[in-house]
Amino acid sequence: MEQQREYKKIVEPDKEKTADIFDLDQERQERREKSINNVINFREKQYEKDFSENPVSGDMLLNLKTHNSIVLNDAIDLIGKEKLSSEDSAAVIIATIMHDSGKLSSDLLSHHKKGVEYAKGLIEKMQKEKSKFEGIEITQELGQKILQAIERHMNHPFLVVKNGGERFPEPENKVDRVVYDADMLANIGFKNVGFRLASEEYLREDSQKAIENGTNALEETFANVMQGVVKLDSVVLTSPAQKIAKERIEDTKRIFNYLKENKVFESLLLEQNIVNEKIRKSGKKLNLDDKIIEEMIKKENIIKLNGEIRKAGMALGIDSKIIDKLMM
Ligand SMILES: [Fe+2]
Ligand SMILES: [Fe+2]
Repeated sequence: MEQQREYKKIVEPDKEKTADIFDLDQERQERREKSINNVINFREKQYEKDFSENPVSGDMLLNLKTHNSIVLNDAIDLIGKEKLSSEDSAAVIIATIMHDSGKLSSDLLSHHKKGVEYAKGLIEKMQKEKSKFEGIEITQELGQKILQAIERHMNHPFLVVKNGGERFPEPENKVDRVVYDADMLANIGFKNVGFRLASEEYLREDSQKAIENGTNALEETFANVMQGVVKLDSVVLTSPAQKIAKERIEDTKRIFNYLKENKVFESLLLEQNIVNEKIRKSGKKLNLDDKIIEEMIKKENIIKLNGEIRKAGMALGIDSKIIDKLMM
C-alpha cells in the first residue's frame, strides 16, 4: 500500500498531455480524450501493481512517463500525416499507449512480450464490456493488429545490439510502422541520458571514458546517447517520420554542442569531476563512491539537466514544443 501511494506520488505531477495536439472538432476531441484516458488508466493501474511488486527508481518512472507521452503525441501526428483509417488509428493509439506497459515487470529485451500480454487483457476487457474506442469496436482482427504492433516495436538499434545483433519481429503493416516510428522519434533527443544515468554500470563506463578522454562523465553520457540518436533518421520507416527525424536530430546536435561550448556539463557535475580527479591521481582502478552514484541519479539532477536543455534550446531559437520532445 505504501509503495502504491509512492508510485502515484512520483508520477502524479507529470500528467499525460494530449489535448494540445488535437486538431479535431470539440465533440470528437472529447470522445478521443475519453477513449485515450480509459486506456491510459488501464496501463497506469498495471504500472502501479508492477511497481508495488518491484519498485524501480523514481527517475525511471518519470522517464517512462515522459516517453509514453511523447510517443503518443508523435503517433497521433503520424496518424494524420499517413492518413490512416479510423480503425487503424484506433489500433495505433491503443498499441502506442500499451507499447511499453511491460517495462516495469520484465527486462528490456522482452518487454514487448509483457506488453502484448497486458494489451491482451485490455482488449478482452473492452470486448467483454463492449466498450469502443472513439466509437470503433475492437474486433478480433483489430485486436490482433494492436498486439502485433506492440510485438513489432523493438528494433531500436540499441536493443538489437543488446540482443547480440539478432533482430526482433519487424513491422509489417501501416499500424506497425506508425507505432514503431513514433517510438523511434521519441528516442531522438536526450531521453536516453536519463536511462543511462539511472544505471550504475553505464555511469562507471562513462566515468572511465571521461578519464581516458580528459572530459567529464556527464559529457560522455550525452556523447554516448548522441551516437545512437544521429542514426535514427535512417531507422524510421515512413516518410513523414523521416522528415521529422532529420529535423529533430539537427536540433539535438545543436543543443549538445551548445551545452559543450558553454561548459554546462562541467558546472553541473562538480562532484563527479572531483571523483574523476581523485581516480586520476590514485591510479587506474575505478571505484566510485556509492553515495556519489546515488547523488547523480537523484531526480534533482534530471530536473537541472532538463532546465539546461531547455535554456540551450531557447537560446538557439528552437520551438518550445520541439524542445519538450527532446527533453530527458
Ligand atoms: Fe519499448
Ligand atoms: Fe518506447
